[in-house]
Amino acid sequence: MSITDAFSFLLQGYTPSIILIVLGVLLIIRQRLAIQLDPQEPPILKPRIPYIGHIIGLLQHQSAYFDKLYARKPLPIATLPMITSKLYVINSASLAQSAFRHKNLSFDPFTLEFAQRMLAVSNESMVPIRFPGDDKTPSFLAEFVKELHGAMAEKHLGKMNASALQRVADTVNEIGTTFETESLYLWLRNMMTLATSDALFGSHNPLQRDRSLVDAIWNFDSDLLGILLNIYPAVTFPKAYKARGDIQAALIEYYTAKHDLEPDVSQMTKARAAILRKHHVPDTDIGSFELALLHVSTANAIPTLFWHLLFLLSSPTVLPLIRAELSTIITLSPSREATVNTSLFHTHCPLLVSSYRETIRLANSQAGSRRVIADTLLSSGDGAQRREFLLRAGADVQIPAGVPHLSSIWGPDAAEFDAERFLEKDKDKDQKDGKEKAEDKEMKKSFFPFGGGKHLCPGRSFAFAEILGCVAVLVAGFEVRDAEGREIGRPRLGRGRLGDAIVKPEGEWRGLGARIRRREGWEDVRWRFEC
Ligand code: HEM
Ligand SMILES: *[C@@H]1O[C@H](CO)[C@@H](O)[C@H](O)[C@H]1NC(C)=O
Ligand SMILES: *[C@@H]1O[C@H](CO)[C@@H](O)[C@H](O)[C@H]1NC(C)=O
Ligand SMILES: *[C@@H]1O[C@H](CO)[C@@H](O)[C@H](O)[C@H]1NC(C)=O
Ligand SMILES: *[C@@H]1O[C@H](CO)[C@@H](O)[C@H](O)[C@H]1NC(C)=O
Repeated sequence: MSITDAFSFLLQGYTPSIILIVLGVLLIIRQRLAIQLDPQEPPILKPRIPYIGHIIGLLQHQSAYFDKLYARKPLPIATLPMITSKLYVINSASLAQSAFRHKNLSFDPFTLEFAQRMLAVSNESMVPIRFPGDDKTPSFLAEFVKELHGAMAEKHLGKMNASALQRVADTVNEIGTTFETESLYLWLRNMMTLATSDALFGSHNPLQRDRSLVDAIWNFDSDLLGILLNIYPAVTFPKAYKARGDIQAALIEYYTAKHDLEPDVSQMTKARAAILRKHHVPDTDIGSFELALLHVSTANAIPTLFWHLLFLLSSPTVLPLIRAELSTIITLSPSREATVNTSLFHTHCPLLVSSYRETIRLANSQAGSRRVIADTLLSSGDGAQRREFLLRAGADVQIPAGVPHLSSIWGPDAAEFDAERFLEKDKDKDQKDGKEKAEDKEMKKSFFPFGGGKHLCPGRSFAFAEILGCVAVLVAGFEVRDAEGREIGRPRLGRGRLGDAIVKPEGEWRGLGARIRRREGWEDVRWRFEC
């Protein structure tokens, strides 16, 4: 309503005082809600419903909202007004890579918020965890993250690979000629949750003592954001709340008994507990905190495994080629023991590795979160290509991998599964012309399923080993069909919930039953892994 319209209202004899009050309130709200935008900041992308539209969009469409916004307006980076704050959304792969590496964009505020709201770590323990660092010492979280990466270095991985895959071997070795399950996903999920937790926690793995905790992790995961909201979670999200309590109680027992000091425990588990103890965090809070470890190491890897297996099973031309590759890394002893040599995936199974990367390109829409801790110029490109945007302190940045994962750089079939997409092309590097080299570089930048910068997922090599190991036996040794014995169809993947890196199987895919039968020639073998 313009000022003159307002006046004409008044002159028509409406009660002036009421109208003046309403106008005044509207004006104040407008000023309060108006997002101040510097011309150097990323262009604003207004929601269709003023002020609250983006929040409604995110709640309604979850991760898919970023794809929708990009389809509406393909900006390299946009400012989304969110009632009183703003969110910068990065769509350009180059800007995403600069953001991951930028020291003024921090992940720490989110880690701290998760620790307190999602894991309910006590206020006393939050004090050392919040330690921001000083001239002599790095911050607690800087030290913690550095330790994580050291703990997942090559020399520590062998033990984890071997432990996780031992559980896979034990499970498949129990299969007689045929095995049927009502849900292939839940069968895999159960096996791999145990496999991963064995690898992390060793022989006192709390999930082995109480198998109900396997489902508890996934109950916790299914209402993670509700728990994070932290508004009377016991009432608002009772199932996830109870699951959290049950797992934390078991982990508290584990750390109180100092089981993490035992030799068959992963370096990852040991190092994290050691640094928390060094800062005088009691075992009870270590137990609460380490629900995070159990959760990050299962939540994304296991759905990835499911989609990878399904993509292969539904590719009749690719499957025999993958089996041929696998036959070169499997040795069969006279006593009918089949050994998969997992250190040979990279060199001997290029199509399998390519199909894994292709699966995560399609299934992974992780949206990295960072907070701008000081006014920052984020730039990308050189010369005429150079772009620079001002990011204001206090705002949040979201970096949805889903957008570059499906961008036109992948070609017209970007939305389709192509097992060969990541094969090193025949031509060697010297023969490629400038354009091809530039395209390769662009694809590399546009693929970041594991995030980047110093928070790049430390579990990615372990995930590679456990997923490919499990897929390898199931594909090489077994025929996996649906419950009626038919070939499994090609999945169409949507997007996951906010906070999920990988879309989880729902509906028909979650309910997909399977008949798993030993392949001809492999009926009598016992499987094992060489790591
Ligand atoms: C396919 C499976 C996996 C995917 C897609 C995945 C993805 C990610 C992503 C996107 C991040 C955040 C990176 C960022 O914000 O820049 C992350 C962090 C992390 N991941 Fe993974 N991850 C997977 C498997 C694992 C496994 C198996 C483990 C442990 C054994 C693990 C441990 C972690 C940890 C500890 C962090 C936190 C790192 C930090 O705060 O600096 N992840 N992961
Ligand atoms: C931490 O302290 C706040 C008040 O300062 C309180 O509301 C909250 O319940 C405490 N959290 C825990 C986990 O003790
Ligand atoms: C564990 O598996 C990863 C992925 O295959 C591999 O890079 C690493 O070499 C393995 N480590 C050992 C010691 O087996
Ligand atoms: C597995 O492959 C590695 C690397 O080539 C090799 O050193 C090792 O002997 C192989 N193990 C088996 C059992 O073949
Ligand atoms: C990062 O923040 C500091 C202030 O803490 C500021 O001086 C610096 O210019 C910022 N860096 C960039 C590249 O904007």
